[in-house]
Amino acid sequence: MNLLARAEQSLASCFEAAIGSGSAPPRLVAAMRHAVFSGGARIRPQLTLSVAIACGDDQPGLANAAGSALELMHCASLVHDDMPAFDDADIRRGRPTVHKAFGEPLALLAGDALIVMAYQVLLNTGHAFPARLIGLMQNMSAGVGLPNGIVAGQAWECEPRADLGQYQRAKTGALFVAATCAGALAAGRDARPWVTLGASLGEAYQVADDIRDVMGLSADLGKPAGQDQLHTRPSAASELGLGGAVDYFQGLIQTAVDSVPACTCRDMLQQLVRHESERLVPSAACAAYRLPNAMPNTAPKFQAATVLQT
Ligand code: IPE
Ligand code: IPE
Ligand code: MG
Ligand code: MG
Repeated sequence: MNLLARAEQSLASCFEAAIGSGSAPPRLVAAMRHAVFSGGARIRPQLTLSVAIACGDDQPGLANAAGSALELMHCASLVHDDMPAFDDADIRRGRPTVHKAFGEPLALLAGDALIVMAYQVLLNTGHAFPARLIGLMQNMSAGVGLPNGIVAGQAWECEPRADLGQYQRAKTGALFVAATCAGALAAGRDARPWVTLGASLGEAYQVADDIRDVMGLSADLGKPAGQDQLHTRPSAASELGLGGAVDYFQGLIQTAVDSVPACTCRDMLQQLVRHESERLVPSAACAAYRLPNAMPNTAPKFQAATVLQT
């Protein structure tokens, strides 16, 4: 089975098990489904699974749960990020955002419920592996909470000044670090060799998001373009210029490729990083992006989600 299919199936079964057959408010459950099952690239659980495989994957159910939990956290962060109090976005993954489809109260609650569900999903499988579960809980908490997780990253937008790197490493990089480390922890291995891969790919992801925000078209991105300028967000494209952002992105991708530890899956992991790099910022477009008058209509057609065979 390829990584994307495994990630998607695990997420669906973890989600259904956590929802259970009880009598939860149907519109809340519908809002949660809308947030999760709407065509995300699933890069975070794919990273968890690929590192787990590289580490022996002796408890595949635990790796599945760990990757699914992180994807639920990611989806929750997108629901809240899109709300009027943050980016006020109408479209996500080519569909109406959760607050547009269900209203603000249910969007707020759906995000909250997905955060709690992420811990439930870890607990539901992890209770049988208590020593690994503790590390996985700490790892996920670090990716989402304070001082350097998603919440801290989003909160830098509320400060009068923010360091671009610190902001991007927290709001996006931290969950990628959690994703690579979760793969090792689920397999009972040391997570430290996998930190640089998550950190550099995660920061690259946010730099790419900034480039695409300037150069992409909303129809291709599946979400509004031009948001960073509209909301005066710190952005790699505005701080480094488009050419500088492309150079920085490519440097981070190279760091990610080089950081993959020696293992039987080194080629597969390096291929995953290169696939993502090409999907996000096609190398053929980089030269055009470096031109002083680069314009959005030179943006490439972005491709659908990566599918890798394991
Ligand atoms: C979007 O993340 C938000 C960022 C951190 C840049 P993704 O690009 O992984 O979004 P989906 O899950 O594929 O929609
Ligand atoms: C989102 O950052 C990162 C999160 C932690 C949710 P952005 O606001 O830059 O991402 P998009 O462009 O809306 O996906
Ligand atoms: Mg935002
Ligand atoms: Mg946003």
